Amino acid sequence: MLHWPDTMMTYLSGDEILFSNDVFGQHFATESLYNDLVKQDDLMWEAEKYYANIINMYSPMANRKVKELMGMNLPLKMICPSHGVMWKKNPQQIIDKYLEWSQGYQENQITLVYDTMWNATRKMAEAIAEGILEADKEVTVKLFNAAKEDKNDILTELFHSKAVLVGSPTINYGFSYAIAGILEMTRGLKLKNKKAAAFGSYGWSGDAPKMISEHLVEAGFELVNDGIKMLWVPDEAALAACREYGKDFALKTK
Ligand SMILES: Cc1cc2nc3c(=O)[nH]c(=O)nc-3n(C[C@H](O)[C@H](O)[C@H](O)COP(=O)(O)O)c2cc1C
Repeated sequence: MLHWPDTMMTYLSGDEILFSNDVFGQHFATESLYNDLVKQDDLMWEAEKYYANIINMYSPMANRKVKELMGMNLPLKMICPSHGVMWKKNPQQIIDKYLEWSQGYQENQITLVYDTMWNATRKMAEAIAEGILEADKEVTVKLFNAAKEDKNDILTELFHSKAVLVGSPTINYGFSYAIAGILEMTRGLKLKNKKAAAFGSYGWSGDAPKMISEHLVEAGFELVNDGIKMLWVPDEAALAACREYGKDFALKTK
């Protein structure tokens, strides 16, 4: 089931090549055939992006299959997946990565994903991020506008975060379609071991943070708090409250 029911790996003895099908792949378009001929950062980002978006939902199976593979002690000269470059130099490295990625993977990163019409929610996101960094100098903080950035890049960032903050203005007693799309895709990925909360600007009813929180719980996140909302474009006092909120979020997710 990695990632279709009929997916099979084939091992060619003698030549010692594992044809791993979808496992260990990347959606990496390059004219170089082998892993040692490409920029390593690009390769590992693409391999992680592929894992997060395609394989992660089957992590229990990935973990079992990788352990089964390692238990066979097969001599391995090369792993040839059906997508992306072939793992010729140190093929064990991608097997080791799959072991890490398949066990509730996280790095010391907090990711903020938001949408905005007139920058009110963006200003909140920036103030919350400032607060997080005031409270914790070590943590990596990244901000993404869900309506502008590549959705699969955003999901990869969520995959390697320990906590996420999702923000949207309230629109028609609901929230933005870009955030709805990200939340629906996130639900499908079955991310584990991650904390979350919601935020957003509003004009009169302010439903978005509560609704986003419900989606985050459904997607398997542990809620840190009930979220924060600010009326219209945040003034200095509101921005200060967002910074305090960010500090508290950083401490509760440290
Ligand atoms: C089409 C539209 C629908 C809206 N619906 C609501 C609503 O149902 N409830 C509410 O509290 N605010 C509503 N608002 C107000 C916005 O939430 C408010 O202007 C907010 O500050 C926008 O934040 P932003 O600049 O991050 O987009 C609506 C605004 C627009 C343009």
